Amino acid sequence: MSTQDSAGSLSKKLIADNQTSCNPRKSVPVRIRNSGENQIQVVSGIAWDGKSLVDQFGRVHSDIRVSITDRCNYRCIYCMPLEGMEFLPRKDLLTYEEIVLVLGAVQSLGVKSVRISGGEPLLRRDVTDLVKLISALGFEDISMTTNGHYLGEFAKALHSNGLKRVNVSVDSLDPGKFSRIRRLGDLSRVLGSISRASEVGLGPIKVNVVVMRGVNEDEIVDFCEYARKSGNVVRFIEFMPLDAQGAWTRDQVVGADEILATIRGKWGLSPIEDDGDVSSPATTYRFDDGVGEIGIIASVTKPFCGDCNRLRLTCEGSIRNCLFAREELSVRDIVRSAKTKEEKTKQVQEAFFNALVMKKAGHGIGDPNFERPNRSMSMIGG
Ligand code: 5AD
Ligand code: SF4
Repeated sequence: MSTQDSAGSLSKKLIADNQTSCNPRKSVPVRIRNSGENQIQVVSGIAWDGKSLVDQFGRVHSDIRVSITDRCNYRCIYCMPLEGMEFLPRKDLLTYEEIVLVLGAVQSLGVKSVRISGGEPLLRRDVTDLVKLISALGFEDISMTTNGHYLGEFAKALHSNGLKRVNVSVDSLDPGKFSRIRRLGDLSRVLGSISRASEVGLGPIKVNVVVMRGVNEDEIVDFCEYARKSGNVVRFIEFMPLDAQGAWTRDQVVGADEILATIRGKWGLSPIEDDGDVSSPATTYRFDDGVGEIGIIASVTKPFCGDCNRLRLTCEGSIRNCLFAREELSVRDIVRSAKTKEEKTKQVQEAFFNALVMKKAGHGIGDPNFERPNRSMSMIGG
């Protein structure tokens, strides 16, 4: 797709799409024009300077999430069905060299933090080598989201190779319930991995809990006790329509207000104004007695799109400008066909900017005509 083609068709699309329930920082009419053969398009009065990833709403994109595999050894009920998942052939995945090229390209455009995710990233062979390669690029922060199953074994090498922090999903502190939610999962193993990660310095560790109605909302208080005892930050995540089986319904979502009310029934809790983690979508809170911290990721009931600073790269090399986007832009062909490293880098950068041009003000999850994305979390990368 040429820049001109994409600009032409995009302008119509953007005008149609810009009405959403989210709260953009600023909303401007969209106008796209080409400004000469060797120049990048001017979008909504924003001329791309080739140096930063700012979208038409003024959102600066400094964080990228990279999914390195769609495979997983677990089958969490909010993510994948137990049977019948089909995974991509290896040749379709970006190689480590290709991932590093793309990351180098976006780093020059102001991206400062990288999160490695999946699927389960620790299933990809030699993942510690990838961490080393990314680390050598010199990002301010490199973190990983993992299911924790193999983290105990890899923690030391990941840390020595430059990984700074991990987020681990837990969802239940009851072994039986854990196995029912995180099918094929093993709670004691995951808790062991968390201890090991903490020992080697992969902290502060964030423990993710997807809260589902009738499944684990009765454990909110237990998880707060856990946060207070362990010193790990527990983050309650609203169940999002990103499950591969398409079974999500609104009534299964336990909203942030309800989570907070449950906690406040037992402890005083105050928001932390500046938690020092700009790349986190969570609103964070400290217990009033000073012991422990929690976060709430309210993507469904209180979308934070106005502050979104993130981009995503899927495991097969497509840029997604939002978890809930319905379109993607592939960079795989670019990195496989452009001749020189310079050309690849320049074209990848243009692709990212084009992906930002398409980024909507918000995901519109609250709109009656919201359409869920055609990809599950395991494909996109959390
Ligand atoms: N809704 C909310 N969170 C989800 N995750 C995976 N699927 C969903 C969903 N449907 C979370 C996992 C993990 C991260 C990768 O994404 O808990 O922490
Ligand atoms: Fe695997 Fe993570 Fe999906 Fe669970 S949520 S099935 S651990 S990719």
